[in-house]
Amino acid sequence: MELKQAVKERRSVRGFLPKPVPKKNITTILKQAGRAPSWGNTQSWEVLIVSGDRVKKMGEAFCQKAREGTVQIPEFEMPKSFPEPYLSRYRQVGKDLFSILGIQRDDPAKRVEHSLNNFRGFGAPVFIYLLLDEGLSPYAFLDAGLFIQTLCLSAADLGLGTCILAALARYPEVIRTYLPIPKGKKILVGIALGYPDQKAPANRYRSQREPLTNWVTWI
Ligand SMILES: Cc1cc2nc3c(=O)[nH]c(=O)nc-3n(C[C@H](O)[C@H](O)[C@H](O)COP(=O)(O)O)c2cc1C
Repeated sequence: MELKQAVKERRSVRGFLPKPVPKKNITTILKQAGRAPSWGNTQSWEVLIVSGDRVKKMGEAFCQKAREGTVQIPEFEMPKSFPEPYLSRYRQVGKDLFSILGIQRDDPAKRVEHSLNNFRGFGAPVFIYLLLDEGLSPYAFLDAGLFIQTLCLSAADLGLGTCILAALARYPEVIRTYLPIPKGKKILVGIALGYPDQKAPANRYRSQREPLTNWVTWI
């Protein structure tokens, strides 16, 4: 696939087929993601690949926590709100998605179900966890971002879908019971990986982008 096509094709996939992803393909994606640039070539990312039953068990354990209303204490602080103009863009995604999914404002049951689906990685057969050492500079987040985007593009190149999911990192105590996270490493984010379910309504959604005039200054 051409780069520009992969950039265009990559999108957050929110509905996956239960079809397993061959290890060979995951390895290819990881090798390509590992080519991402990083400060001084430090390559400070570390990943855990989770598949099989454990994915389902973790998803259900997250849902259980969410249903119980357990306080979320992610290991890297997550945004609680946004100033404008970011807040409006953030809200737009929710509005558009709910509209495609036919979820009305006054339908709390469906809203909750969608939120729980986040915790299940939208049915993806693979979760990829990104870990970072404690105490690294914020530039390590930049490195991780470059890694993640390269990973998502490489997945798209193989016909695979991804969804970067903060939801998968909201209950680190659950993750640590299921995965051997080394001491001194912190959980940054999870990525759902799998074959997109073309019939899933959420996958019809295409997020919008601001025109260049709103964020570029030519001097
Ligand atoms: C750090 C990060 C965390 C995200 N967490 C979630 C999430 O928990 N649930 C979700 O549905 N999408 C999540 N997303 C996906 C974004 O909503 C998505 O990237 C954005 O709306 C742009 O859409 P696109 O990826 O389809 O281009 C996350 C993306 C990033 C980069």
